[in-house]
Amino acid sequence: MKNSITLLNKCRICKSQKLFKFIDLGPMPIPNGFLEEKDLNKTESKYELSCLICENCELVQLSNIVNPDLMFKNYVYVPSVSMMMMDNFRDLSLQAYNDFGLNQDSLVVDIGSNDGSLLLFFKGHGTRVLGVDPAENLAKIAKMKGIPTEVKLFNSKNAKILKNKYGQADVITATNVVAHINDLHDFFEGVSDLLSKNGVLITEFPYLVELIRGNEFDTIYHEHLSYFALKPWLKLVESNDFEIIRLKKLSTHGGSIRLTHRRKAGKNKKTNSKIDFLIAQEESDFYNKKTLRGFATRVATLKIELLNLLNNLKKKGKRIVGYGAAAKGNILTNYFNIGPEILDYIVDSTPYKQGLFTPGKHIPVYAENRLTIDRPNYVLILAWNFADEIIEKEKDFRKNGGKFIIPIPKLKIV
Ligand code: TMP
Ligand code: ZN
Repeated sequence: MKNSITLLNKCRICKSQKLFKFIDLGPMPIPNGFLEEKDLNKTESKYELSCLICENCELVQLSNIVNPDLMFKNYVYVPSVSMMMMDNFRDLSLQAYNDFGLNQDSLVVDIGSNDGSLLLFFKGHGTRVLGVDPAENLAKIAKMKGIPTEVKLFNSKNAKILKNKYGQADVITATNVVAHINDLHDFFEGVSDLLSKNGVLITEFPYLVELIRGNEFDTIYHEHLSYFALKPWLKLVESNDFEIIRLKKLSTHGGSIRLTHRRKAGKNKKTNSKIDFLIAQEESDFYNKKTLRGFATRVATLKIELLNLLNNLKKKGKRIVGYGAAAKGNILTNYFNIGPEILDYIVDSTPYKQGLFTPGKHIPVYAENRLTIDRPNYVLILAWNFADEIIEKEKDFRKNGGKFIIPIPKLKIV
C-alpha cells in the first residue's frame, strides 16, 4: 500500500525539529493485525515503533506514522467485553446528561464510536445519537443495536458533511481516539464546526504520566500516534480556542483522564486548580530526559525478569497460557520474544479474535472457556489493565491451584 509509513522529522503539533527519542521497540507488526491460519506463512509487514518527545511543546509521539487504512478499516477491538469499560461509559453518559441538561432534542456525536457501546447509554437517556467510525465491521454491529453510524474517519472535511446532514451536536465525545488522530488542529477545526455554540467536547485518553510511572510500554503502538500529558494537550486546546472546564481521573487503560471542553469564553485565561496542580507536577517530575530514560531502563529490566520467570517455569514443566489478546499483549510478546513455545495459547472473550493467531508471534487465540477445560498451571495476564476483573471472573482457576502472572506495572504472581 502506498504511503504505508511516514517518518516524522518534526513535531506533529508545533513543527519543532527538536525531537528526543527515549524508547525504541524496533520493527513491530500492527498489533491488531490478527492472522488466519492460512496466512501464517505469508510475510508480515513490520513497522518501526519508537517514541519521541518534542523538546519544544513536550508532546510525546511516535516516530513513524502508519497509514490509518491499514489499521482501522476492519477493527477487532471492542470495549463492550469489559465491565470496567462499560461502567466508565455509563458514568460519562450520566455526567454529561445531568450536567449539561440534555433532552430528547440534544444530539450526541461519538467520534470513534466503535460498536456503539457509549452511545447506547446516551440513547437510553433519550437523546439523539450519531456514531462516526471508519471500521465497517463495527459500524454494522452498532447499526444493529440501533445506533446510526457514519463509516468515516473524523476530520474537518467530514465534519462539514455531518453538520449538513444532521445539524450541530450538543455533545461530542471522543474516548480513546484522539491519540489515533494525526492532524489534531484539523480535529479541533472539525469539532468547532460540528459543535453547537454552547456544546461540549468530552475526551478520554490514557494519561502519559501513568504510562511512564507504571511501565506501560506495551501501550505504545502504531495506532497511538500521541501520548498525552496535560500540558501539551492544554496548549493544543487553547491554540484552537477551546478551554478545559472539567477534569476527572479514571482507572481505565492503566490510568486515564476525562476532560470536558467548551469554546473559550472571553479573552481571560481561566484558572483551574486541579489542572494547574497536575501541570506543575508534570513540569517538576516529568519533562526531562532522565525520567524518560529511566522508563526505558525499567522496561529492559522487566523483560529480563519476566523471561527468567517464564523460562524457569517451562523448565519445571509448567504449562503457561496468556489471558487477553490485547493489542498491548501483542507488543509485549513481540518485544519480549515470547512465542507459542512459552504460551500455548491466549484466551480472549472477543469473538473477532477467537480462532485467529496473534501478529508476529502467531500464538493461537481461543475463547475463555478453554481455560476451564484445559487447566494450565500459569496464566500470564496480557490485558493487565483488566487484571482485577479477570482474576475475579476466573476465581475457580485459582481455587483449583492455578496462578496468575501480572507483568505490569510490576511483575507479580498471585
Ligand atoms: P485492551 O487492553 O486493548 O482494552 O484489550 C483487552 C483485551 O482483553 C480484549 O481483547 C478483551 C480481553 N478481555 C478478555 O478476554 N476477558 C475479559 O474479561 C476482559 C476484561 C478483557
Ligand atoms: Zn512540539
